[in-house]
Amino acid sequence: MSEVETARLLLRRWQEDDLERLVALYSDQRVARFLSVDGRPWPPERSVGAFEHFRRQWQEHDVGPWAAIDKHSDRWLGQIGLNELPRWPGPDKIEVGWDLHPSVWGQGLATEGVRAALGYGFEVVGLERIISTARPDNAASRRVMEKCGLAFQEEFTHPPWRLAADCGVGLSRPSVSPPRPPDGTGAPTRRRPQRPG
Ligand SMILES: CC(C)(COP(=O)(O)OP(=O)(O)OC[C@H]1O[C@@H](n2cnc3c(N)ncnc32)[C@H](O)[C@@H]1OP(=O)(O)O)[C@@H](O)C(=O)NCCC(=O)NCCS
Repeated sequence: MSEVETARLLLRRWQEDDLERLVALYSDQRVARFLSVDGRPWPPERSVGAFEHFRRQWQEHDVGPWAAIDKHSDRWLGQIGLNELPRWPGPDKIEVGWDLHPSVWGQGLATEGVRAALGYGFEVVGLERIISTARPDNAASRRVMEKCGLAFQEEFTHPPWRLAADCGVGLSRPSVSPPRPPDGTGAPTRRRPQRPG
């Protein structure tokens, strides 16, 4: 099972033609604002790197971030899912992440997708702990975390870290059952051992 459906989203693996969409997404100032220290739009090569990282995770571990699609219109909306942060300073290096096109913000889609990703990570992949990271001033993302039951863990200030450079809010929710998507989709059945950090 490598695809998940929620009430409104199809979370699927990456296709070749997603690259140009991802480049466009991260070149949008509104999206990139909280994704790095300087908050500037990503140059295409950085998005290519992210795309390759997303796909490599699926190839090597059979799990990773998904492309998020509006199920009803088939529109590509962004990315949501479990992403490995190999250089994250803490012991738990799998984060749940999200970046969506601004035209669909404020409809609860990130929350819906993140809940499904958490369910997948805990119940299918068998992860014991999933973190999420955001810059402290990324209020929308912190609200998404809160709505998904993620609890504040620690503030990191490690300048060398790509995502964590000044972004330091790490969260986890290891001891509670992940919330199920309201429509019951994405209810996983298979467990895999935890990936090595
Ligand atoms: C973060 C992001 C994915 C949110 O997507 P979304 O689909 O709008 O999220 P949701 O609708 O599920 O929830 C957003 C919540 O944040 C709240 N919110 C939005 N902007 C806010 C702000 N400036 N201050 C406080 N709360 C805010 C919304 O009201 C909503 O909470 P509510 O349901 O209690 O009203 C979207 O803003 C995004 O892609 N941002 C750019 C990339 C990014 O920052 N990615 C995350 C990196 S950690």
